Amino acid sequence: MSDRKVIAVGGATGAQGGGLVRAILNDPNGGFTARVFTRDVNGAKAKDFGRRGAEVVAADVDNPKSLKKAFEGAYGAYCVTFFWAHLSPEREISEAKAMAEAAKAAALQHVIWSTFEDTRKWVPLGDNRMPTLQGEYKVPHVDGKGEADHFFTDAGCPTTFLRTCFYWENFIQFGIAPKKGLDGKFAITFPMGDKKLPGIAAEDIGKCAYGIFKKGAEFIGRTVGISGENLTCAQLAAVFTEVLGKEVRYNSVPPEVYRGLGFPGRRGFGQHVSVRARFRRILLRGAQP
Ligand SMILES: NC(=O)c1ccc[n+]([C@@H]2O[C@H](COP(=O)([O-])OP(=O)(O)OC[C@H]3O[C@@H](n4cnc5c(N)ncnc54)[C@H](OP(=O)(O)O)[C@@H]3O)[C@@H](O)[C@H]2O)c1
Repeated sequence: MSDRKVIAVGGATGAQGGGLVRAILNDPNGGFTARVFTRDVNGAKAKDFGRRGAEVVAADVDNPKSLKKAFEGAYGAYCVTFFWAHLSPEREISEAKAMAEAAKAAALQHVIWSTFEDTRKWVPLGDNRMPTLQGEYKVPHVDGKGEADHFFTDAGCPTTFLRTCFYWENFIQFGIAPKKGLDGKFAITFPMGDKKLPGIAAEDIGKCAYGIFKKGAEFIGRTVGISGENLTCAQLAAVFTEVLGKEVRYNSVPPEVYRGLGFPGRRGFGQHVSVRARFRRILLRGAQP
């Protein structure tokens, strides 16, 4: 047990971190053990991980002392931020900074930072094809993560920058499931035209992260983009048609119409997918502007 490398996992009770904890627990001979950090050690998920052999510690990313303890003595850490909990890129940037500082203090040997492209490198703020949101972002939930990359580099943390993508689960959790139109037909609505959307099952992000920890040194300092499949929205609609056994169409709308649809963060979300549609180089995962 003691010779196994401890990975401190942020967001362990959530989608990405949870996938990583399960990947570690499902591979008892893999040489790693999971340290789940959560704000609620008595929560059902934390307790379940504890029963399955993970160490469970209380930590809040907004409390540097608790974060320091969560990383202490660990080999590595999975760092993820929580945009949808507060919708603030500035707060997300501070969370990333706090994790980079804690990782440095603990002299971690491998950090995976769950990040995204800073889309402003492709679509500068002065580019009026897309409105600027929240003062200085084109895609607030994405740009803040990319902007925060430098904290890990500046701190000298041995980091892999893991660029994730759209969870397929968004179709269940994000209010974008196929909906019945006035014509009685089901459709999904996106501002993607005929361009491809990279997507992934959230659980697979954790599995990829585990693979990166297992590879170790080979991935330190590298930016890795992942997706499960890159599908056009017409292809996605065809998958829904097949799986649901009823016709689902693709309703292609302009980005400005999409931004007006009603769900939280829709403007940023709309700009995220339309940046991908307009600037296909971003689809080349890890591409530089
Ligand atoms: N939806 C998508 O398509 C998508 C795609 C790629 C990336 N992302 C990004 O994924 C991130 C969220 O990750 P997720 O989806 O894995 O999370 P999630 O399933 O929404 O779960 C939230 C996690 O965040 C933890 N958390 C929240 N505030 C915290 C704090 N102050 N200190 C410590 N832990 C805190 C929660 O832990 P406790 O409650 O146990 O403390 C929980 O484990 C967001 O930044 C989002 O932008 C989303």
